[in-house]
Amino acid sequence: MHTYDPAGETLSAGALLRFYVESGADECIGDAPVDRTQPPAAKPAVAKPAASNRAPSSQAPISDTAAFTFTPAAPPVRAPVSPALLSAQAAETAATKAAQACNSVEELKAAVAAFEGCALKATATNTVFARGNPAATIMLIGEAPGRDEDAQGAPFVGQSGQLLDRMLAAIQRDESNAYISNVIFWRPPGNRDPSPEEIIACRPFVERHIALVRPKVIALVGRHAAATLLGTSQGITKLRGNWHVYAKDGLNIPALPMLHPAYLLRQPGLKREAWRDMLSLALKLEELGG
Ligand code: URA
Repeated sequence: MHTYDPAGETLSAGALLRFYVESGADECIGDAPVDRTQPPAAKPAVAKPAASNRAPSSQAPISDTAAFTFTPAAPPVRAPVSPALLSAQAAETAATKAAQACNSVEELKAAVAAFEGCALKATATNTVFARGNPAATIMLIGEAPGRDEDAQGAPFVGQSGQLLDRMLAAIQRDESNAYISNVIFWRPPGNRDPSPEEIIACRPFVERHIALVRPKVIALVGRHAAATLLGTSQGITKLRGNWHVYAKDGLNIPALPMLHPAYLLRQPGLKREAWRDMLSLALKLEELGG
């Protein structure tokens, strides 16, 4: 089978599939295949209720509801609460309770694996918790597992993880003296951005993770990590390279937002900035005796 692409080239079905997989679209999201070369099926007509030919009458019998054209008073105006947000609040409460009950990183790992409040778990292969040394003085927190991380159950083991490892090696860090995790523990399908609800559901575990590890320095890898843990909506290109303080649970830990290695792979010209951030991390660790 051949298909047509907008650049005017004819692609084989295999090439198209490879393109989808490389772009992260490697999952089916429906049970039945969809033939997008065909026009959408017409929607079935919805039967309209038969119009009443009776004038509304206050004399109409109470049981005859069809004759009622009663307009209720407008309900009081309330701020809309989305059901998704409500369930995110419930998930956050459950996550907070489970996370606070943990007194070690091992307990927290088990609590995350047992948590059912994040919908991403249903489509993920593995829970991705952390890799490296939890006693390390530097903790790196990224965004969410990708395909390789989901398959192997460890964070940053794919292409961007390999770049992150090379960046760490440049400041003499590896799994023996660095600790790596994410703000999301399950892979978002197709590598989409995590939703606010998913971030809210995982955040209590992330905060407890930091409180248990107590690193001297945190590297916030990418915009989601920075936004989640610093509570800012500023873009990562503005935030990166500037030290912030992660203040929570009585901790005040220097935190450096950095460009995500996946971003650096797409924009290799920014590696100079990334190198500066690595040097800044190394200097801060030296200052703090770490
Ligand atoms: N990107 C992340 O942010 N985390 C991973 O674990 C892998 C890729």
